[in-house]
Amino acid sequence: MARHGATASGGVNRQALSAEEFAAWRELIEWGRTLGMTPYTDAIGNLFLRLQCGDPDAPAVLTGSHLDSQPSGGRFDGVFGVLAGLEAVQSIVDAGVPLARPIEVVAWMNEEGSRFAPGMMGSSAFTGAATPESYFEIRDSAGVSVADGLTQLRAAFPDLERRALRRPYAAYLEAHIEQGPVLEGAGRTIGIVTGIQGKQTFRVTVRGEEAHAGTTLRRERKDALLAAIDIIGALSSEARDEADLVKFTVGRLVVEPNAPSVVPGRAIFSVDIRHPDSAVLARLGDAVPQLCRAHAGPCAVEVVRLTAAPSLAFPDDVTHAIAEAAERLGLSAMRLPSAAGHDARFLNDVCPTGMIFVPCKDGISHNEAESATPGDLAAGARVLAEVIAQHAR
Ligand code: GLV
Ligand code: MN
Ligand code: MN
Repeated sequence: MARHGATASGGVNRQALSAEEFAAWRELIEWGRTLGMTPYTDAIGNLFLRLQCGDPDAPAVLTGSHLDSQPSGGRFDGVFGVLAGLEAVQSIVDAGVPLARPIEVVAWMNEEGSRFAPGMMGSSAFTGAATPESYFEIRDSAGVSVADGLTQLRAAFPDLERRALRRPYAAYLEAHIEQGPVLEGAGRTIGIVTGIQGKQTFRVTVRGEEAHAGTTLRRERKDALLAAIDIIGALSSEARDEADLVKFTVGRLVVEPNAPSVVPGRAIFSVDIRHPDSAVLARLGDAVPQLCRAHAGPCAVEVVRLTAAPSLAFPDDVTHAIAEAAERLGLSAMRLPSAAGHDARFLNDVCPTGMIFVPCKDGISHNEAESATPGDLAAGARVLAEVIAQHAR
């Protein structure tokens, strides 16, 4: 899969609804077909592969993750969960496990929120947390909308059947690399994920006035970049805590017209704030619009909240099933929360949901150097197969 969108430094750039992701879809559909799985899609561009078995009307067990990546992403974030799901299906079929219900593998559309923000569009629209229409007009930096991307998807896969959103599932299980250092530090192979840390994201637009760099007096300038720098400084100070629990990131800053001798007329930036305590996160998020206005100087500022997701806990019966599967397989395991966001957040609202983590090298992720060992990945896939089989029997 890492060939699709491969970067020169060994990473992956596979944006949502891009030609690279379509190529990955083709590959995945082929692999699914060789296992007897039927591909289909939906109104928001998720890809499902269905293994028909047991009672065809019974809600299926769903597993998977995402195929899109950050622009300088690694080879494991997301794709591991999709391929582990496929491996699990293959093992279950090969072993002749009797199944009472179908199994489906999913690749959710735009988990990363890199090309189109916010992320997790596919899973949130599938579960009904958002409507697909609310995402259609969101545009990438080149002005291409989600609706345009979905039109291209349908043109690339004209024969793919489209099924309804919000279909019921018996369970959702997602395998993923940890993307942090906890498992590696503790020397454990399997992470039994207890829940997902809360997150709020914003798009801030600072509007000033383009002016000549040589002739315009300081007191007459409306420099959007200088205002953005003041705002970001104020937000960053507000987010600084002794315990180092707040995660504050401005990962994207666009300056217009981005010319050396023009006072910037517009600065647009992202804000990503995370904290395990939902009340603290809500307080930090609620402070963002006011702090932006207070530090905008002579500029106008518009703040749009894109995500307001509290921390959540996965149900005990799923975490217990994962723990028991790891134990049966003789794998060392520990419980831990997910500091990163995942599509499992939205599935947790509609069916029993859980996640399985495996270690990644030095905890590095959202980085081309992201790495994980074949042994750890196989161990995660084995636990996934056990838990899927248990839920599908
Ligand atoms: C997912 O990629 C996240 O940013 O947590
Ligand atoms: Mn991911
Ligand atoms: Mn990611």
